[in-house]
Amino acid sequence: MSNEKPFYPKFSYDAHARTCAEDDFLGQTRRTVQGLPVSDDQIQMITTAIKSGLKMRPDDVLLELACGNGALSHFIFDSCQEYLGVDVSEYLISIAKKNFEKPPHYKYLMQGGAEYMRQESQPERFSKALCYAGFQFFSADQAAEILLILFNKFKNVQTFFIGNLPDKERAGEFYKTRQPSIEELLDCSTAIGIWRTQDEFTRLAELAGWKVSFSIMPTEFHASHYRYDALLSR
Ligand SMILES: C[S@@+](CC[C@H](N)C(=O)[O-])C[C@H]1O[C@@H](n2cnc3c(N)ncnc32)[C@H](O)[C@@H]1O
Repeated sequence: MSNEKPFYPKFSYDAHARTCAEDDFLGQTRRTVQGLPVSDDQIQMITTAIKSGLKMRPDDVLLELACGNGALSHFIFDSCQEYLGVDVSEYLISIAKKNFEKPPHYKYLMQGGAEYMRQESQPERFSKALCYAGFQFFSADQAAEILLILFNKFKNVQTFFIGNLPDKERAGEFYKTRQPSIEELLDCSTAIGIWRTQDEFTRLAELAGWKVSFSIMPTEFHASHYRYDALLSR
């Protein structure tokens, strides 16, 4: 028997985005199906799910982790009073600042999610939090730390919407032609990130003190067959 570990590709959103056209916002964050950008209807389904999940109110101050290039989040600006989007990619944040930032109330910041959480000096200002198609790219340690800091230090955050999580129980619906290794499914530095079952996700969130509920997008949504959304509350 061979001791060689099965090969699988690693992925960097920052490096990938730099290969796309400057205005290919959906390509930069791989919001594509078979290489083509998803339709406006799909984007609207996402923003509707986020706004209704978080029960956005006009006086909300929203924190978004792993916000990417802002192409999604700017659709939420009209539902909140203030917004801060944080992402580790220098390039994607430069695109967000250039195209979508509306200072002083709707701003973007380049920083790793866990580093930002540790150093934020005014955490009480936020009332809601969001991480869409991004949480799976935090390492297991970072994910646990972010959930804990959000619960303990960002005390006014009532709900945290964590969307588009890859469902380990349905990985076979995505990987139709090959069987990925466990190592690959647990690696945050692939194009899909860490796959978790809803039970695994519940344990992670509950360890930090959160209550969790799950939802799955309607079948018309391009990724509903292998992804779920989580809503964390106190
Ligand atoms: C698929 S994109 C999603 C972007 C955006 N949320 C959206 O839905 O359009 C994943 C994002 O996670 C970001 N990311 C990965 N690791 C991160 C980290 N440790 N801290 C902050 N952002 C991170 C990447 O830079 C990338 O922008």
